[in-house]
Amino acid sequence: MKVVGICGSPRKGNTEWMLRKLLEEVAKSGADTELVLLRELAIKGCDGCLSCDIGGAERKGRCRIQDDMQRIYPKLLEADAWALGTPVYFELLSGMLKNFMDRTCPIWPKLEGKPVVGLAVAEEGIGKAIENLKTYSSLCGMQWVGWVTALAKTPKQASRDKELEKRLERLAGKLVNTLKAR
Ligand SMILES: Cc1cc2nc3c(=O)[nH]c(=O)nc-3n(C[C@H](O)[C@H](O)[C@H](O)COP(=O)(O)O)c2cc1C
Repeated sequence: MKVVGICGSPRKGNTEWMLRKLLEEVAKSGADTELVLLRELAIKGCDGCLSCDIGGAERKGRCRIQDDMQRIYPKLLEADAWALGTPVYFELLSGMLKNFMDRTCPIWPKLEGKPVVGLAVAEEGIGKAIENLKTYSSLCGMQWVGWVTALAKTPKQASRDKELEKRLERLAGKLVNTLKAR
């Protein structure tokens, strides 16, 4: 069992802490976990060429942009489940996470049925961020397992919230049970 977390925050802050907590809890079940910090990777924006989709058999399912995303594709496909984490920016998901999502265009048909959970953190209002994560997951045919939101502004604020820790533990348990039931 392998669960990969994808962190869409450009800073070492609340989203990263939430993902680490969730993965730590998932790992207690014996699952392998890995956290992908998008901020540490060079991932260019999708250029819309659609050659991953219509470029013929030799291109289909591959992205022509040679950057760190190429290293990530195999991990994303191998993982039994994903955890998507985003800070809330203007009541939406972060551009960093959206950029990543756009670059999954070559693999999205292969994500069908993969369980996924969503985490979002905002200073005062989550807005549409969880809906954004749900919409992406649903378009990819993934199995939406659940979500946790938090309110925090400064980078270490979420880590002091004991009740949030419990909610993350519960979501991790739900994800593990979903994987075990498959
Ligand atoms: C560009 C930008 C836009 C933001 N927009 C919102 C917002 O619409 N609503 C909100 O409550 N917080 C907003 N925030 C605050 C962040 O969501 C908050 O600081 C959060 O803790 C960041 O998560 P992180 O520590 O994982 O980066 C915004 C922050 C930035 C930098």
